[in-house]
Amino acid sequence: MSSRSEAPSSSDAPSEGLIETLRASALAELGEASDGGELDEWRVRYLGRKGQLTSILRSLASLPVEERRTVGAAANQLRTALEEQLQARTDELRNALSTAAEQLDVTLPGRRGHRGGLHPVTQTIRDITDAFAAMGFQTVEGPEVELERYNFDALNIPADHPARDLWDTMWVESPDGEDRSDMLLRTHTSPMQARVMEKTDPPVRVVVPGRCYRYEATDATHEWCFHQIEGLAVDEGISFADMKGTLYEFARRIFGSERKVRFRVDFFPFVEPGAEMAIDCFKCNGGGCNLCKQTGWIEILGAGMVHPKVLEGVGYDSEKYTGFAFGMGVERIAMLRHGIDDVRLFAAGDLRFLSQF
Ligand code: DAH
Repeated sequence: MSSRSEAPSSSDAPSEGLIETLRASALAELGEASDGGELDEWRVRYLGRKGQLTSILRSLASLPVEERRTVGAAANQLRTALEEQLQARTDELRNALSTAAEQLDVTLPGRRGHRGGLHPVTQTIRDITDAFAAMGFQTVEGPEVELERYNFDALNIPADHPARDLWDTMWVESPDGEDRSDMLLRTHTSPMQARVMEKTDPPVRVVVPGRCYRYEATDATHEWCFHQIEGLAVDEGISFADMKGTLYEFARRIFGSERKVRFRVDFFPFVEPGAEMAIDCFKCNGGGCNLCKQTGWIEILGAGMVHPKVLEGVGYDSEKYTGFAFGMGVERIAMLRHGIDDVRLFAAGDLRFLSQF
């Protein structure tokens, strides 16, 4: 049991030695008091009515006159000292508290938590599919590991046809190491054309976002894995003018309402006629700059009227139904919109890049 809260017993006659002992313990305890409550307890313990110093002062009367004078002076001096020290410690603690309070500026805005965001490729896919949704196109997805039949044959690209060389294909091995010569990582999203038409009667209006793969050396504009969005519209009486109107509207929604479009003849085995669509450069408004390589135009997609062989391949009557198809690279569109100069940034997983979008 601690003796510090006990008043000296009456047998301990007050002496200068006792007063010095009291001073030492009082000051040590005062230094340890760390809040108002502890300071108050300390004050009661030493200076209160039944406090240790108070009882010494009271018992002075029992001392011989000589001693009473010296011990009394020492006790009074200690009382003054303790009162001063109590005040000093009180001020010290108050200052420490107010400094801490000043350091906490409650008017500062709070720290924001980390928020996730959508990958720029995902954002671009959503913007594009939204633009087509507004024109009645449904969004569907298909398998990334695809059958040769859908990736090539159904698109009027028979085996050994030179058109297959347009796509550098990654063929798939079965787990036992055997060559599955009929399976591949899809080289484009076009295989969904036949998959959708096989399941649906016209009218068909779909857009198909998804990953594609090509056996390709990577550089600033080529990735072995990238995204495309395919589009297909088939019905009675669909014309090339419908295709132009639809793609023009898409270009305006994604690249700005003042955009112009240009169509030029191109070749893809699954469309006839085939076309490439360009928009007038949104950076220089067609005047010529580094983005459009001084041509004033930026190519953004391939398109065309669905080849009759593709329609017949899925059992559609090509005399009755016509349609158009188109395909575009998502990374390319995102790069154009955001001024990104290296396609490899999309898959690098670097938050310094990704958090800008
Ligand atoms: N699938 C083509 C490619 O990967 C892009 C494409 C071109 C799709 C013309 C189409 C189209 O539907 O009509 O290069």
